[in-house]
Amino acid sequence: MAKNDREKSVRTTSAGPIGIGLIGTKFMGRAHSTAWSKASQFFDLKRNPVMSAVAGRNPDETAVFATKWGWKASTTNWRDLLTDDTVELVDVSTPNHLHAEMSIACLEAGKHVACEKPLAGTLADAKRMVLAARAARKKGVQTFVWYNYRRCPAVAFAHRLVRDGRLGRIFHVRASYLQDWGGPDTPLLWRFQGDLAGSGAHGDLNAHIIDMARFITGDEVTEVVGSIEETFVKERAVIASSGGEISGKGAKSSSSGRKSGKSTVDDAVLFLARFKQGAIASFEASRLATGNQNRNNIEINGEKGSIKFDFERMNELEWWDHTLEPKLRGWSRIMCTDAAHPYAGHYWPAAHLIGYEQGFISQAADICAVIAGGSPVVALPDFEDAFKTQCVLEAAIRSARERRPVPIRELDKF
Ligand SMILES: NC(=O)c1ccc[n+]([C@@H]2O[C@H](COP(=O)([O-])OP(=O)(O)OC[C@H]3O[C@@H](n4cnc5c(N)ncnc54)[C@H](O)[C@@H]3O)[C@@H](O)[C@H]2O)c1
Repeated sequence: MAKNDREKSVRTTSAGPIGIGLIGTKFMGRAHSTAWSKASQFFDLKRNPVMSAVAGRNPDETAVFATKWGWKASTTNWRDLLTDDTVELVDVSTPNHLHAEMSIACLEAGKHVACEKPLAGTLADAKRMVLAARAARKKGVQTFVWYNYRRCPAVAFAHRLVRDGRLGRIFHVRASYLQDWGGPDTPLLWRFQGDLAGSGAHGDLNAHIIDMARFITGDEVTEVVGSIEETFVKERAVIASSGGEISGKGAKSSSSGRKSGKSTVDDAVLFLARFKQGAIASFEASRLATGNQNRNNIEINGEKGSIKFDFERMNELEWWDHTLEPKLRGWSRIMCTDAAHPYAGHYWPAAHLIGYEQGFISQAADICAVIAGGSPVVALPDFEDAFKTQCVLEAAIRSARERRPVPIRELDKF
């Protein structure tokens, strides 16, 4: 392991800083590096994170990344983190097919794990991860999953409105997560390869809105009633290296010239579902929804009120109070930047807006609080929780392929 200015420190689970090891240095590697470096600046934590070591694949790039983002050491062998005494938690920020192997090895080595979403590319991998998490939990080792949108103040506030009964009985959940970077010019990144990603827009985007719907309503999906899966772009250019951007920008072409390969994932998945307490729901994810760049939307209609959230206006929550007399009813746009809104008071004065990275900073802070024996501001998903989202993803895919309703109880047995 290459060392920058590393101090040897003894790992302790009860006091002192929490040593973090990160695997993955691209999109999420950068988002999480920001989070670990800023969490203790915005939150007063009992145990602050320290950025012990980062694991990448290319030695030069990983060393440069470590210096730039503040990691004390770097390695090209992620397994080095397993035996590194300064690492107490491993942050798995790699493509989906690696989540199970890496997370399970880390848990078995006694490291807490914060894994990116979706929990895994396949239900079988997700089950193995839950079993490893259950075994680790008995030894005090904890798991977390980066469903970061829960920590947008507006989303956390919507969750509290429902919890406090302000929406009453919920009738409808209407969620869509629409992007438009997946056109024919986007190369065959890992995100379009079924053996690496598990699925396409579905596991990437529907995973987030299923988690948000479960989180805000406090309810669980019991059945996927029907579903459509579509791959619009069947072939994409094969590349030598991805360039590190979600759209493949900066990708280097394959050495053998212009070769194309088959995309083996969906570009879009739409499905209908039922919740346990009676709500009915629609979910839609697409990477070809032209004009929608990162439109993560959820609307929930209850008997006493409704909420609407759109990540492209992430500081706002729209609220309809149906308990008002009819002449006063109307949509209000709540700027969720007041100190009374969840997380907002940790950042800037009211109406000084926050952005994408604050969701990750808030999650890193909550993870540190939980490891130190405290509570998160709002619930943090662990592997067991993220498995419920994985079951809904699987039910939707089975429903699309087998053209039938799929109950969740068909999938969640071990
Ligand atoms: N929470 C979110 O909003 C969000 C957003 C984007 C991606 N993600 C998830 O984060 C994960 C990573 O996505 P990304 O966008 O950062 O992908 P990316 O392609 O930008 O980066 C993947 C990283 O993993 C590394 N990697 C791949 N194989 C490796 C190996 N064998 N050993 C060590 N490192 C390896 C790559 O070198 C790269 O640094 C995925 O699970 C994805 O679904 C979550």
